[in-house]
Amino acid sequence: MVEKQMVIGNLKVIVAKDYDSLSFIAGDTIATQIKRKPSSVLGLATGSTPIGTYKHLVARHQNGLSFEEVRAFNLDEYHPINKDSDQSYAYFMQENLFKHIDISPNNIDIPSGETPMPAAECVRYENSIRDVGGIDLQLLGLGLNGHIGFNEPDAHFPKMTQYTSLKQSTIDANARFFDSADDVPKHAITMGIGTIFAAESVLMLISGAAKAEIAHAVICGDITPKVPGSILQLHRNVTIILDSEAAAKL
Ligand code: GLP
Repeated sequence: MVEKQMVIGNLKVIVAKDYDSLSFIAGDTIATQIKRKPSSVLGLATGSTPIGTYKHLVARHQNGLSFEEVRAFNLDEYHPINKDSDQSYAYFMQENLFKHIDISPNNIDIPSGETPMPAAECVRYENSIRDVGGIDLQLLGLGLNGHIGFNEPDAHFPKMTQYTSLKQSTIDANARFFDSADDVPKHAITMGIGTIFAAESVLMLISGAAKAEIAHAVICGDITPKVPGSILQLHRNVTIILDSEAAAKL
């Protein structure tokens, strides 16, 4: 299941045999966190990569793992988007995780894609995370251009939850979930790099050959806002799980 474990700088790097193994290890890591601290604050992610991890967590719930005291925050949400639309991240989380487990709806927070005042929503969201004492474990995927959440390559690292424009490459990459690229919202609300960085621990998942190059840049390259995920090299508690295809260039 685990092909290789390495420490590269501050980063704990696990190479899993394939996507199923990656999902099993990631799900197990999150389940262990919840068992250790039932009231854990989780930062959750969307995209194709964590779907297998959520399946594993649902299976663990069916075998007795309770999410009753868990609080969940999501990394990001498109703007504008209706929360009930099947392309919203709120809907994604309901379908892939929340409706299958015993988490209380009061303990779920996702940036609102419906708000007419995104700047105020960013402040509310950041405060909401701070009010519960911060995130214990932040799950992350990785965009093809190195983005984490929707923090796109830029000249600086955005600190706090922000209202942001999506790069055309991200719109194109995410068009597969919409009827066409024109239908992908052009903006999003995302936790900032500072918000993510304040998490006690970070678990990043990288899957597939298409991510091999950017995985190498994030793990071994320069720390630069042009590759937002590279900032994780400075965090003291990061685990990155890759499948063997994504790890091909390490
Ligand atoms: C979106 C999300 C990111 C996610 C990325 C990669 O852009 N905002 O949080 O990491 O997609 O998605 P995938 O796992 O489908 O490659």
